[in-house]
Amino acid sequence: MNDPRYPIRNPDELLSPSLLIFLDIVRSNLDAMIAMAGGADRLRPHVKTHKMPALVHLAESLGIHKHKCATIAEAEMVASSGGTDVLIGYPIVGPNLARFARLIEAYPSTTFRATVDHPESARALSAALGHADRPTSVLLDLEIGMGRTGIAPGDEAAALYQLVADLPNLDPDGLHAYDGQIRDKDLVDRRQSAAPGLEAVHALRDRLLAMGLPVPRLVLGGTPTFPVHAEVRTPGVECSPGTCVLHDAGYAEKFPDLPFTPAAVLFTRVVSQPRPGRICLDLGHKAVAADPAGARLTLLGLPGATLGGQSEEHLVVEAPGADGLMPGTPLLAIPTHICPTCALHSWAYVMDGGEVVDRWEVKARARVIGV
Ligand SMILES: Cc1ncc(COP(=O)(O)O)c(C=O)c1O
Repeated sequence: MNDPRYPIRNPDELLSPSLLIFLDIVRSNLDAMIAMAGGADRLRPHVKTHKMPALVHLAESLGIHKHKCATIAEAEMVASSGGTDVLIGYPIVGPNLARFARLIEAYPSTTFRATVDHPESARALSAALGHADRPTSVLLDLEIGMGRTGIAPGDEAAALYQLVADLPNLDPDGLHAYDGQIRDKDLVDRRQSAAPGLEAVHALRDRLLAMGLPVPRLVLGGTPTFPVHAEVRTPGVECSPGTCVLHDAGYAEKFPDLPFTPAAVLFTRVVSQPRPGRICLDLGHKAVAADPAGARLTLLGLPGATLGGQSEEHLVVEAPGADGLMPGTPLLAIPTHICPTCALHSWAYVMDGGEVVDRWEVKARARVIGV
């Protein structure tokens, strides 16, 4: 509890398990993102990391007016928080097509953008938006190595972009490429790994422009390749990292070059001391993401701690200093993966100068908000 980055004056007043967000750190992460991108207008942060209206407000107050989402609920959370430019970088299928149409109708002052990677998805989106009073901007989702969604940036992609241009209710709006598979620790290696994907995106862009089609934006990547994409000077580049807004122990360990600090920390208490050298914390997998397998968190101030069994509300820890930790003792832990951890909490305490100054709702943890 005495990590100088995370001061807490009155730990006895905090519920556990809970999520604490340190305001000075989240602000400095956002400032570092703007500096790295070369301007707030070159950023489109992914809100899936936090799902919080207050963080949309904070981003907007710093001049970040573009947002990326994975779900309709996240898109609605951003629009209802005053965001006016929202890209859903996830395939919209099934009843979500009608929800997307309702979202566009419900928030007329927000521009919503979608992605497609298949002619069938483009046709379904076009049909779903039949009643809209203006066309919706659609980006091609490109597959550049992630092996998850997206169309390879070749002939079929060019044909699909032409189809988007030809279909009613859709406007071609650029290219979306996520290279989250790139995990090299060294930035020089990461830059090298990202180069072929970036070249393919640019080759497709040049081809589409030569076909007479507009390509107003290239939405690129996440946190690991953010420093690489930030160097791209092509007009219309938007970097779309998400995790670094709050950052976490996983990325801090894997990518030591990144100038971000974990801003969201778990507050936990010892609930039991079942045997010498062992404690049990109230940090089950309903409080910290079960992804990744293995070390799900880093306990602060408990050197040599090893994590044992975890169930819904319990986490067993073995540590040389465990015997001194009576039931009720508070501890802090940095989650390895902050995005799914946030989604387990309905709100987070906001800390500033050691005091609780607010509570921020994790509104888009819900699958449905309004539409
Ligand atoms: C499509 C897409 N864009 C951006 C991001 C943000 O990446 P990161 O969490 O590395 O910041 C993600 C993360 O999952 C993603 O799936």
